[in-house]
Amino acid sequence: MAEPREEGAPGGGSSPTSLLTARGLRKTYRRGMWPRRRSLSVLEGADIDLEPGEIVGLVGENGSGKSTLMKILVGDLIPDAGLVQRRGSLGYCPQVPVLYERLTAGEHLELFGAAYGLDEGELGRARHEMYDRLDFGRFADTRVEEMSGGTRSKLNLSLAMVHDPDLLLLDEPYAGFDWDTYQRFWDLTGSRRDRGASLLIISHFIADEERFDRIYDLVDGRTVLR
Ligand SMILES: Nc1ncnc2c1ncn2[C@@H]1O[C@H](COP(=O)(O)OP(=O)(O)OP(=O)(O)O)[C@@H](O)[C@H]1O
Ligand SMILES: [Mg+2]
Repeated sequence: MAEPREEGAPGGGSSPTSLLTARGLRKTYRRGMWPRRRSLSVLEGADIDLEPGEIVGLVGENGSGKSTLMKILVGDLIPDAGLVQRRGSLGYCPQVPVLYERLTAGEHLELFGAAYGLDEGELGRARHEMYDRLDFGRFADTRVEEMSGGTRSKLNLSLAMVHDPDLLLLDEPYAGFDWDTYQRFWDLTGSRRDRGASLLIISHFIADEERFDRIYDLVDGRTVLR
């Protein structure tokens, strides 16, 4: 896939330790054909920096462009302008779970573990950790088509974390979680942070504010550090 191209790199360079640096990201969605062509400018120069050992929040109104920005950061979407530099391994939890209806939780973890190059021992440990920390081991042999929304969200999150990546980008990962799972989520992400990972989490809840080391507000297509 083509890398986003550099353009001017406003806002200065990246720090030598940073795991992700994004500068001047712009994105306009274009739909339809002339004369009914419509365009919607979503990002108008967004910047992000992620350092090892921090949990960073990305907040903004519905439709402000949070998911668009995260898709660009992971390389899922090409920006019209701007630069993204990443270092280390990456885990991405999309807002809408991308799961196979006919496969079980265990089969998903096996598939993703193999894709990330985990050996049998590593996969066993990773699977056990995800089942235990998110409390869904009883669904190991359940097909996705029979799972509740919350269990799907646990599996979706597990697939982003199974290879213990340096950089974790999570798009509203706990939208469907009950209170106990929500607490478990913060224990799990906190321990990854303490081991040196960097996490960017899209969130809506003001109540989460004290859980983040830093927060970016996405306003009018730009990121503003709170
Ligand atoms: N593929 C697309 N084509 C055209 N417009 C799109 C596309 N994806 C998103 N949009 C529009 O871009 C804007 C930003 O969408 P995005 O999903 O990034 O917002 P968001 O901040 O993640 O919202 P939410 O809080 O609801 O998840 C919205 O107005 C949306 O309708
Ligand atoms: Mg979104």
